[in-house]
Amino acid sequence: MKSIDELKAEIEKFKIENAETLEQFRLQFLSKKSEIQALFAEIKNIAPEERKSFGQLVNELKDKAQQRFEECKESMEASQGVQHSIADVTRPSDSIPVGSMHPISIMMNQVRRIFEDIGFTAVTGPDIEDDWHVFTALNFPEEHPARDMQDTFFVELHPDVLLRTHTSSLQVRTMENQQPPIRVICPGRVFRNEAITSRAHCIFHQVEGLYVAENVSFADMKQTLLYFAQRMFGPDVRIRLRPSYFPFTEPSAEMDISCYICGGEGCNLCKHTGWVEILGCGMVDPNVLENCGIDSKKYSGFAFGLGIERMTMLKYRTNDIRLYFENDVRFLQQFKAASR
Ligand code: DAH
Repeated sequence: MKSIDELKAEIEKFKIENAETLEQFRLQFLSKKSEIQALFAEIKNIAPEERKSFGQLVNELKDKAQQRFEECKESMEASQGVQHSIADVTRPSDSIPVGSMHPISIMMNQVRRIFEDIGFTAVTGPDIEDDWHVFTALNFPEEHPARDMQDTFFVELHPDVLLRTHTSSLQVRTMENQQPPIRVICPGRVFRNEAITSRAHCIFHQVEGLYVAENVSFADMKQTLLYFAQRMFGPDVRIRLRPSYFPFTEPSAEMDISCYICGGEGCNLCKHTGWVEILGCGMVDPNVLENCGIDSKKYSGFAFGLGIERMTMLKYRTNDIRLYFENDVRFLQQFKAASR
């Protein structure tokens, strides 16, 4: 058995540095199985005349161990408290996982902002439409193929009810409710009965534009669209208008931008033509103005329609339209920076 002095020295020298060593100390000197307890059990074997002083020494030893234990425990708790209060407030916090805007929303907002800056107002309308707003008022002939079941989703119970195939229906809704000057853009979802491939989908998004006032000219349209193209794709972009046909505009055109990847020299994106098609446009057909209750002798206007998916694919160089509808976070996460 160790002597009282030896144990005393051990108590003093024992290194208590953390909660673990504090517990070791407690087990070794203060628990029921400790060597100090063994000394207590020994008291009865001591000669009676020495018993009292031996008992005192063992008691002192125990008090010493107890005291050391308490002191260390207290200072450890105190220093933990200090650590809390001097927490490093400059340390960056753990990042909070946040989502990002969908690329289609990002692009819609961008287009919208560009036109709002020059006085256009955004308006919206119903996805489920009737024949008048989607076709008839827009001067589509009765037998026009766009009305065909192959292109348009009709509601079976009611042949006049259909999912809009373009946002041009909002031209009609706007002009029916408002006299010129009119300057609106109409973002929205459209539907076509098409096979889903990397280039085409049965749901996509368009932004329609309409400007009707006195003396609106083709040159006004050209300048407005040039401004748009340069803000969207960069100040060096050039535009080109090619004659085309839409029932609701006369004359009609398709607009290309000079390829912003190769600058017009020819690459994969522009299929080596130097040009990329981005929208359809034209002067609003007088028949459409009249159908909507606007005097075509007094007013003229231009309209345009662009596909958001196409614009997004061009701008972010993605090659499969289906990615926009699959909600794969690995794809969507890549638009975090753009959505700020
Ligand atoms: N509505 C046409 C489409 O879906 C796009 C379009 C072309 C809209 C010419 C217009 C326009 O307003 O003037 O393909």
